Amino acid sequence: MKILVTGGAGFIGSHVVDAYVAIGHEVLIVDNLSTGQRANLNPKAKFIECDIVDQKKIQKIILEEKPDAINHHAAHIQVGYSVKNPQFDAQNNIIGLLNIMEAAKKAGVKRVVMAATGGAMYGNKKTPFTEQMKEQPLSPYGISKRAGELYLNYYHEIHQIHYVSLRYSNVYGPRQNSHGESGVIAIFLEALGEGKPAIINGNGKHTRDYIYVSDVVMANVLALETYFVGELNIGTGIETSTNEVFDKLVSELGIDMPREYGPERIGEQVTSSLDASKAREILDWHVRINFDEGVKRTVAWFKNKA
Ligand SMILES: NC(=O)c1ccc[n+]([C@@H]2O[C@H](COP(=O)([O-])OP(=O)(O)OC[C@H]3O[C@@H](n4cnc5c(N)ncnc54)[C@H](O)[C@@H]3O)[C@@H](O)[C@H]2O)c1
Repeated sequence: MKILVTGGAGFIGSHVVDAYVAIGHEVLIVDNLSTGQRANLNPKAKFIECDIVDQKKIQKIILEEKPDAINHHAAHIQVGYSVKNPQFDAQNNIIGLLNIMEAAKKAGVKRVVMAATGGAMYGNKKTPFTEQMKEQPLSPYGISKRAGELYLNYYHEIHQIHYVSLRYSNVYGPRQNSHGESGVIAIFLEALGEGKPAIINGNGKHTRDYIYVSDVVMANVLALETYFVGELNIGTGIETSTNEVFDKLVSELGIDMPREYGPERIGEQVTSSLDASKAREILDWHVRINFDEGVKRTVAWFKNKA
């Protein structure tokens, strides 16, 4: 299959590219390198530097390349910045997607897999969140991801483009950038690696559902073949507190660093985890890497990189 991966120079997208290339797919990457890095680019994939907001350029690429499928990972991912600048978020995450889908329609693209969010999709409901719960995104980022799903549903119903939206929990692993705000593992690792204190926002009792990147990649592989159309949660269902994350990293790095607390971030969700039983049933997708193993691998990569 010929697959266009948007955001393929980024953290998750680059791992998806590696897996698609390893399976034998022909892969084309489109990325504007805003947060992605050239070092992440798979040499066996073709790379075109392009901003998906540039309608003419992205349309030209899709019409010329005519991929069979599009895996859409390019996005603005900072929830806090989306609150400060919802127009910027919508420009990238809604208009960018529409630029891709309008071109996909013209080029006869058959299927799309999109990276969505589980953590920012359901609001402050009781955990674990299921796909049956009413969506209640409480940030412009969550809203733009939900809008993207509604558009994909439109392109499916009216223009027969198959889609799967994968609603990830908190993804972590090698290549994660510490400059974002959601990758607490990458942020803590960067600080601790430099011998600086890693500040825990609030009392550290907030929980998140941490999923290792290779498990997310597997969902992207399975989503290419499925008959299913719609939204699927991709998470472990296990809640880990920020205090536990900190302690685990300190112990894995073999350093002695006390916990340090800072002010709580306003509007921060207290708990978050995803029920992924639908993905298990439909995709036969399973979590393979538990938190202990995932942290071990991430710390090993981090030490190697430093
Ligand atoms: N990391 C997580 O925990 C998580 C959780 C849920 C969903 N997601 C989604 O997964 C996807 C990838 O996230 P990530 O964590 O790998 O972040 P990332 O920042 O590493 O990857 C995003 C990539 O998209 C590129 N990009 C951004 N805007 C672009 C634009 N306008 N045109 C072209 N390229 C553009 C960036 O350069 C980068 O390579 C995003 O859609 C994100 O919303 C991530």
